Amino acid sequence: MPCVRKAVIPVAGLGTRVLPATKVMPKEMLPVFDRPSLQYVVDEARAAGIEHFVFVTGRQKYAIEDYFDRAYELEATLQKKSKTAILQKLQTSTPAAGSCSFVRQQAPLGLGHAVLCARDLVGDEPFAVMLPDMLMVSDPPCLQAMTRIHADHGGNLISVEQVPASQVDRYGIADFGEIVAPGVRRLSGMVEKPASDQAPSRHMISGRYILEPGIFDLLETQDLGAGGEIQLTDAMVRLMDQRPFHAYEFTGRTYDTGSKLGYLEAFLALSVSHDELGAQAADMIRRFADNL
Ligand code: G1P
Repeated sequence: MPCVRKAVIPVAGLGTRVLPATKVMPKEMLPVFDRPSLQYVVDEARAAGIEHFVFVTGRQKYAIEDYFDRAYELEATLQKKSKTAILQKLQTSTPAAGSCSFVRQQAPLGLGHAVLCARDLVGDEPFAVMLPDMLMVSDPPCLQAMTRIHADHGGNLISVEQVPASQVDRYGIADFGEIVAPGVRRLSGMVEKPASDQAPSRHMISGRYILEPGIFDLLETQDLGAGGEIQLTDAMVRLMDQRPFHAYEFTGRTYDTGSKLGYLEAFLALSVSHDELGAQAADMIRRFADNL
């Protein structure tokens, strides 16, 4: 099975649900404790063996490109002051030279269109799509588990997890066929943002995908779907007619940082699990909660 070397990370969204924080700052750069939320997603990708990151950006997203570049002046200053621990952290958080590409999504035409913008940079090989609003915490990390499943089963794969019935209209919702391995099921359908009485299940498409390059031809001819946008889900439904499609039932924790409360929850959860400061952060949160 060809391995998954490239990840497409759509970062063109305007972040309207977290305004005004995102008025001049890309939402993906908002810190979750001590690093931008996007760093967690890139780290998840690297843990899965991803070698090349394709960021689909938009206007006012310059900070993302700068963040994943080396910062020579800063590094030289840290070196001079012998701040080696933080210098090392900075260096290891930066992807290798030449491993990031940036392409602009020129108009907000939807997730399907964002993925289509990466076509030339992905080429003719299976690739991952990672939605950076969704911070997924688990051991092994979600995409790593998925690349292992993909190595065994090939085809196409999405991560899914259950949401309350009241939330199905916010997400793509999956429908299932038989179980093919523990935690892996054949997909029989998908629908983008269904009304709750029309949802085929309560399993949302949670933001990690491994797709075959055949998706691009379908995206190119995809009609507008939910919200008047070109939906990745709709093109995946068509791909499902031609190719095997599986769902991985993710069992870790997912935080949707695209909303204010989801962002707060991610911030708290990743603070208390921080390797150096987690215990102190937990004490602080407990003291704060006791005074509410
Ligand atoms: C997108 C996808 C949807 C998925 C969701 C996860 O929706 O279209 O299928 O469930 O991400 O966050 P969006 O959040 O862009 O509306």
